[in-house]
Amino acid sequence: MSKSIFITGTATDVGKTFVTGLIVKKLHDSGINAGYYKAALSGAEKINGRLIPVDAKYVCDVAGIKEKPENLVSYIYQTAVSPHLAAQIEKNPIDINKIIQDFNRLKSNYEYITVEGSGGIVCPLRIDDKIIMLTDVIKILNLDVILVVSSLLGTINSTVLTVEYAKKLNISVKAIIMNYFDKDNFMHLDNKKQIEKFTGIPVIATVSHNESNLDVDITKLKQLYKEI
Ligand SMILES: Nc1ncnc2c1ncn2[C@@H]1O[C@H](COP(=O)(O)OP(=O)(O)OP(=O)(O)O)[C@@H](O)[C@H]1O
Ligand SMILES: [Mg+2]
Repeated sequence: MSKSIFITGTATDVGKTFVTGLIVKKLHDSGINAGYYKAALSGAEKINGRLIPVDAKYVCDVAGIKEKPENLVSYIYQTAVSPHLAAQIEKNPIDINKIIQDFNRLKSNYEYITVEGSGGIVCPLRIDDKIIMLTDVIKILNLDVILVVSSLLGTINSTVLTVEYAKKLNISVKAIIMNYFDKDNFMHLDNKKQIEKFTGIPVIATVSHNESNLDVDITKLKQLYKEI
């Protein structure tokens, strides 16, 4: 039996990988067989002729997972643009069946799989004769979502918009994690209050600059994962 959750963010670079690293580390440190998966990664680094999926490598390193990062990402593109565009440039279109197969393979290897999205919630993965959006992956894998958001000015707007968009597609956002949070900043504290008020979704953790531990109860964290 495996459990899983999908991590998305209000934008690219908001800290999905950073926060996912802390989540997977928390699970791994408590003795859980924790894994990571990402359907499509663009902006991979070429090292000694090998394309390295940087997000997967980062999470494995931080959490102490002994796995080749290449095994945790279905599509690895070097071009640092949206996956649909990288796929067109590199002539390697995304096939949803490969994503399902790879995810199923990981299900037999890991107990708790944390799946990271690409970009924000509106992220095209394929646009040609077929259209595949990131939200199609969330729905096909039947996952709920943890939303990583910023704590800075503008976050009320981007958080509420993302939650409303998810709702429109019947995607369930279970929890919010605020990144770059400063407990002494009155605006960050107010942003947390307003985000909870306007979305009705709990902020389960705040993550400060260079945080090394996710301050959340492990039982509560595990409860967010859905059996798949
Ligand atoms: N709390 C933090 N403290 C220090 N650095 C951070 C923090 N959050 C994010 N970063 C850094 O900011 C950069 C962007 O973060 P990250 O890679 O996690 O974003 P992302 O949402 O996963 O982006 P992508 O859409 O490319 O997957 C990285 O260099 C990361 O190490
Ligand atoms: Mg990332």
